[in-house]
Amino acid sequence: MKITFLGHATLEIKINEFSLVVDPFISGNPFASEVDIENLKPDFILITHAHQDHILDVEKLAKENDSIIISNFEIVNHFQNKGLKGHPMNHGGKWNFDFGELKYVNAIHTSTFPDGANGGQPGGFIISANNKSIYIAGDTALTFDMKIIPLKYNLDLAVLPIGDNFTMGYEDAILASDFIKCDKILGYHFDTFGLIEIDQSKAVEEFKKVNKELIIIKPNEYITI
Ligand code: NI
Ligand code: MN
Repeated sequence: MKITFLGHATLEIKINEFSLVVDPFISGNPFASEVDIENLKPDFILITHAHQDHILDVEKLAKENDSIIISNFEIVNHFQNKGLKGHPMNHGGKWNFDFGELKYVNAIHTSTFPDGANGGQPGGFIISANNKSIYIAGDTALTFDMKIIPLKYNLDLAVLPIGDNFTMGYEDAILASDFIKCDKILGYHFDTFGLIEIDQSKAVEEFKKVNKELIIIKPNEYITI
C-alpha cells in the first residue's frame, strides 16, 4: 500500500490498481495548496464522519470520478440522495471490496453535517489488503475500544490524530499505539487551524523516548508499507 498525505486528515491510499481517497478536504485547506485535486481519480472515497474538514471535496471528486462513497449509513444516504454512488456500513461491520477488506470501527467524536443534518456516528477504518493492515482512526479520543483491534488485526501502520483539542493529542496517541499494538504511527489532524497547532519536534521526540515511531510528512509526501 502507498499512503500519500494530502494535508489535514486527507489521505490517498493506492492498493494494486485502486485509488482510495480518505476524508477529502483540499480546496479549503491553505496548507494543501500544492495538492492538485484534479490529479486524484478515486475509485472509492472513504469518509470517517460528516464534519466539513472531512467531506468538503467529496461531491466534486465523486461526481467527476464516479467514485463509490463508503461511510456510515447516514453519510452514504446523504450523498446517495445527491445522486452519488455509495456503500453504507456501520460500526463493527466489514466488507470485502475489490481493493481488500474494510472494517468500520468505533471513534469517540461527533458527526453533524455543516448544515446541522444528522451525520450518524463517527468511525474509523481498518483496511486489509496484500497481507498488510492499516488503521485510520478518524477524529477520535483515546478509547478502550482500540484494544479490540489487535485481537484480530496485526497492524502495519496506524494513522492517528495528534492535534489535540478536537481529538486526542500526541500524548494520548502514544497510549493509543500501546492499545492497538502498533508502534508505527502516521500523525494527522494537526496544525491546520490555530486550535490544533502542536510542537511537531516535541511530538516526534516523545514517541522516540518510548521506542515508537511518529511519522510526520508534508502534503504530497508518501510512505509505503
Ligand atoms: Ni471532526
Ligand atoms: Mn476534523
